[in-house]
Amino acid sequence: MDDFEALASFAPDDEWRAALQRAPRRFFIPEVAWASPDQWIDKRADPHAWAAAVADDRPIVTQINDGDTPLTVEAVQRTTEYTCSCSAPSVVFACLHALDLHAHHRVLEIGTGTGWTAGLLAARLGDAKVTSIEVDSTLAGIAAANLDRAGLSPRLVVGDGAGGWSDGAPFDRVHATCGVRSVPGAWIAQTRPGGTIVVPLAAEFGTGLITRLDVIDDGTAVGRFVQEAWYMRMRAQRIVRTEWPWESDLDGEISTTRLDPRTIAAVNGGAAGVWLSAHLRNVDVLSWAPDPEGLIVHWLLESGLRAESWAAVDYRPGAAHFEVEQYGPRRLWDETEAAYVGWLRAGRPSLERLGITVTAGEVQRFWLDSPDHLIT
Ligand SMILES: C[S@@+](CC[C@H](N)C(=O)[O-])C[C@H]1O[C@@H](n2cnc3c(N)ncnc32)[C@H](O)[C@@H]1O
Repeated sequence: MDDFEALASFAPDDEWRAALQRAPRRFFIPEVAWASPDQWIDKRADPHAWAAAVADDRPIVTQINDGDTPLTVEAVQRTTEYTCSCSAPSVVFACLHALDLHAHHRVLEIGTGTGWTAGLLAARLGDAKVTSIEVDSTLAGIAAANLDRAGLSPRLVVGDGAGGWSDGAPFDRVHATCGVRSVPGAWIAQTRPGGTIVVPLAAEFGTGLITRLDVIDDGTAVGRFVQEAWYMRMRAQRIVRTEWPWESDLDGEISTTRLDPRTIAAVNGGAAGVWLSAHLRNVDVLSWAPDPEGLIVHWLLESGLRAESWAAVDYRPGAAHFEVEQYGPRRLWDETEAAYVGWLRAGRPSLERLGITVTAGEVQRFWLDSPDHLIT
């Protein structure tokens, strides 16, 4: 079975199936790559394994560390910084479906990567209606060659997609294929009122959420969550940290909590993740199990270069109260506990009931059931 036959079932309709036939995934995967989560593929050494991975519903990593480290099996196993991949086909098509394309639409993609999504868009709409922007010029060059193999030539721009591409605005659809903590105002400004933005929102307490936003004529965008999916973050919005609190000798304020910290550690996306992200902006969550006796330290870290606040909560087996240490101007554990209890008090609302409004000033507000019922 070739990759078209294997992947056709992910295409939501006949038009997308035709686009897939024109832009098959195999044209966009390099000869050596890392098929997530655990397989090194090498087309020359094992063409069958390579073809099977291409035809599988897995992301395929094609770059690490912004290309500063060559992609080798040893390097990819050492790093956590995947910086380009050809996303899993089911997720690619879920996003394309959410775009709700019509033949006349002009589309801007942010994050060309391998060029596969741009190729599918160009096969569906025609080259002239598709622009894709990529921050990394090496990746953009590879994408152009991949697209050429499929006989496709959408406009490829090298630049920082956080600013969109004003020369081509307004667009009917904007599709980001890198994750964002906050939706750049430029994307809203460059989308025609009534148009749609599909973007992976990289929520702080979770895996990431494919979000579909409709642009209103007052420069705001209102949206709901399509499904969970993790995407690598847009360069400017990555977590940047040069110091870790456990490496410093700063002492925080000590208190205790009865809420089991593992409850928060287990929040991984979903409605609770959105609720916590909505209340605690710019916080990263880490859990650390330093000893075999069962001690788990649960860290909450304010993110960003100048971030000061942190909290550490120790889970000890059998304890009725758990020790909390909090440092800095924010009390991150108190904020987290209050937000989690708020979600429980609201009756554990599901993901389908939550939504987001973004203004051109990049203020993001989350709501329950309808945009006039803000939760933050
Ligand atoms: C998951 S990959 C995109 C996959 C791609 N759509 C495909 O079909 O292969 C994310 C891409 O976003 C790019 N990227 C990250 N930050 C960016 C930015 N600020 N502007 C444009 N592209 C960016 C990365 O270099 C990477 O190629």
